[in-house]
Amino acid sequence: MGDAVRLTGVRKVYGKGSGAVAALAGVSAGFEQGTFTAVMGPSGSGKSTFLHCAAGLDKPTSGSVRLAGVELTELGEKHLTRLRRDKIGFIFQAFNLLPALTVAQNIALPLRLAGRKPDRATLTDVVRRVGLDNRLTHRPAQLSGGQQQRVAIARALVTRPAVIFADEPTGALDTRTAREVLDLLRQAVTTAGQTIVMVTHDPVAASFADRVIFLADGALVGELHHPTPEAVADRMTHLGAWAVA
Ligand SMILES: Nc1ncnc2c1ncn2[C@@H]1O[C@H](COP(=O)(O)OP(=O)(O)O)[C@@H](O)[C@H]1O
Ligand SMILES: [Mg+2]
Repeated sequence: MGDAVRLTGVRKVYGKGSGAVAALAGVSAGFEQGTFTAVMGPSGSGKSTFLHCAAGLDKPTSGSVRLAGVELTELGEKHLTRLRRDKIGFIFQAFNLLPALTVAQNIALPLRLAGRKPDRATLTDVVRRVGLDNRLTHRPAQLSGGQQQRVAIARALVTRPAVIFADEPTGALDTRTAREVLDLLRQAVTTAGQTIVMVTHDPVAASFADRVIFLADGALVGELHHPTPEAVADRMTHLGAWAVA
């Protein structure tokens, strides 16, 4: 199978002249359909910039980003917005749910924004997969953090996007709840063939992925396949200068 998203020679420079910072210094990486990849690296290594460039939220200074067969760097803002809505799912540390909407309305929101009629079978399936069947009329404030993140996962899955990007999705959760959320992401890949790219600083979270890629100073400096928490932690210490958290 092909890559759901591929970055080639991506550079991102913030600022100008002597104040310029190369957040990404020419990064190339492909993410095959139906795979789960963790992105790790010290604070300031370029993880968020990488994710934002891959997801069309930020424009690279140079290089190419192809997502679902489309060159993102050539799209105007209007087309980018539509592509993000139709082809990409996002999961953030802070959940980012709409407080005035019910669980069911939050989950169906991407379909409504796309002008697609939420079909009941798709909604029921997604809701069942994340275990929210009996919470559909609740508001986000009535839910625990773990339940809120499950709403966010359902919302990301509902459009069957080409890629889901997650930035520290378990960063605000306790260990047990984080594990439930990671199990859900893993299942979305294994049983539904979803493609996920997840930034994390947690070796245990990374071990749920098929592969870990490591960034340092805006460059790719290594990768691990079939990662265990021990192997990830070991690689992190050898990369040095690692400010965890
Ligand atoms: N909007 C911005 N303006 C200027 N510099 C930025 C901006 N975003 C990130 N940077 C810089 O780019 C580098 C990488 O940042 P970031 O991608 O947020 O790293 P990480 O997510 O790994 O902590 C850092 O040196 C950071 O200060
Ligand atoms: Mg970051």
